[in-house]
Amino acid sequence: MAKDNKKTAKAAKKAAKKGPFLRSTEWFGKPGMDGFHHRSWMKNQGLPHHLFDGRPVIGICNTWSELTPCNAHFRILAERVKRGVYEAGGFPLEFPVMSLGETLMRPTTMMFRNLASMDVEESIRANPLDGVVLLVGCDKTTPSLVMGAASCDLPTIVISGGPMLNGRFRGEAIGSGTHVWKFVEAQKRGELSAQDFQDAEACMSRSVGHCMTMGTASTMASMMEAIGLGMPSNAAIPAADSRRNTLAHLAGRRVVDMVTEDLKMSKILTRKAFENAIRANGAIGGSTNAVVHLLAVAGRVGVKLSLEDWDALGRDVPCLVNLMPSGKYLMEDFYYAGGLPAVLRELGDAGLLHKNAKTVNGKSIWQNVKDAEVIERDVIHGMTKPFKAEGGICVLRGNLAPNGAVIKPSAATRKLMKHKGRAVVFEDIEHYKARVDDPKLDIDETCVMVLKNCGPRGYPGFSEVGNMALPAKLLKKGVTDMVRISDARMSGTAYGTVVLHTSPEAAAGGPLAFVQDGDMIELDVGKRRVHLDVSEEELERRREAWVAPSPPDRGYWRIYHDHVMQADTGCDFDFLIGSSGAPVPRESH
Ligand code: FES
Repeated sequence: MAKDNKKTAKAAKKAAKKGPFLRSTEWFGKPGMDGFHHRSWMKNQGLPHHLFDGRPVIGICNTWSELTPCNAHFRILAERVKRGVYEAGGFPLEFPVMSLGETLMRPTTMMFRNLASMDVEESIRANPLDGVVLLVGCDKTTPSLVMGAASCDLPTIVISGGPMLNGRFRGEAIGSGTHVWKFVEAQKRGELSAQDFQDAEACMSRSVGHCMTMGTASTMASMMEAIGLGMPSNAAIPAADSRRNTLAHLAGRRVVDMVTEDLKMSKILTRKAFENAIRANGAIGGSTNAVVHLLAVAGRVGVKLSLEDWDALGRDVPCLVNLMPSGKYLMEDFYYAGGLPAVLRELGDAGLLHKNAKTVNGKSIWQNVKDAEVIERDVIHGMTKPFKAEGGICVLRGNLAPNGAVIKPSAATRKLMKHKGRAVVFEDIEHYKARVDDPKLDIDETCVMVLKNCGPRGYPGFSEVGNMALPAKLLKKGVTDMVRISDARMSGTAYGTVVLHTSPEAAAGGPLAFVQDGDMIELDVGKRRVHLDVSEEELERRREAWVAPSPPDRGYWRIYHDHVMQADTGCDFDFLIGSSGAPVPRESH
């Protein structure tokens, strides 16, 4: 055994000389008691001695959980990654991190995104890892893992779990989330029975995978592919398609080479890569949540990115993709139509892509997509005949949102994009729920619905309640959309003329806190303006009378409240900005 250990230490040294520094040799390559500790306990898993010979150790960061149904198939995916890692001469080690299941966690997964990112960052840095594969799927699992890994800056590949197969109910395609809003509205109108409502549940979620609309999960999977952290076709291969497992296998092989090439995240996450992702978001009609998440990731890698960049870069990008919630198809159709590579090629041909941005497979983004073809033009439109003229996210400003607010024009009603209406104010979500369906509520379709105290600090956690359902009495009249303004987020599967992320939020004393029933509000998306028609003197009077909500008493909620930044800068914690890399921590036993 002593001989074996000496041989391991020698092999590790030799391997270290050949390539870049391997962190793992500081654990597994050591002679004496330290090396014994690090190897011996690992061997209780049946791992043979030769695996500790200085080969790259690849961490597979897994968000598998039965409480995160969108990621419940990840054990299989992790096994496929392991096959690839072994095949390329690496040593895979899978580890769990906090998993954020969108549909069950309360008050909202967004409240825990930064917490999960800390789990990821510290798990990677504390362990003998040389490279990492991130298994992500449900909405917040992507940004939380990418933020944490970015602060460690090791060679890293992101593998998304893939969307569910198309939903189908009574002959009609139905999309995750998007049809929930429609079913709820149909029930309010008395058009859907309780039994129909229940039957639709299983029809919508009929396979493994995440939401199959162009909601936040599919948007973030697309962002990962466009930014270069995901392999080609990462975004759209359905979770149940065998090619998703193939992609995982190939990613496992590739990450070992990335370690040898020292291809760290910071070499991929450049300003140009973020610009590519922002333009891709416009072309796919992606979720407004991508704004907050990419701003936070940029903050971790030191790339200067602002809310204005989203407007400026997305301004000339039309929406090409006809997917719910903006359109009618679903992610499975998107994959068959050519997927994200076909969209990126359209952008590249139009001069809207930084073609030489690096990606994880070692090629440039353009090398990956230049031969991609659109198979179905009704799903992926071209630049000359886009699906919708305005794809990007518009950033609004005005006395109601001095630091900005966002709207997604592709999901809004054109005629409402310039509108002036009387405010009907809900002080918080409970007030909204208690009041919205009250037949006596003084509201009509010309009014502007205002929801306060649902921002990052409010509620707390920045919930997806910004697309408040319309009052039942207006739905019954056939009203389908109204202008809504809040400091909340909106699910990527939702739609409507909805102004979101108003900053500063009401709970931080932003002007939204001072809106009252009957005030007039002007929205002019063309001029990027949202304005409260109340004099400065009156606003000042209301500001003086305002009382800030009291902070939570203790625990994580208190840390969250005291350190979360506002929506316009990505809602990271102020003390998490930046990267510490992954120096080998000091041995303490
Ligand atoms: Fe998990 Fe939509 S609920 S992606």
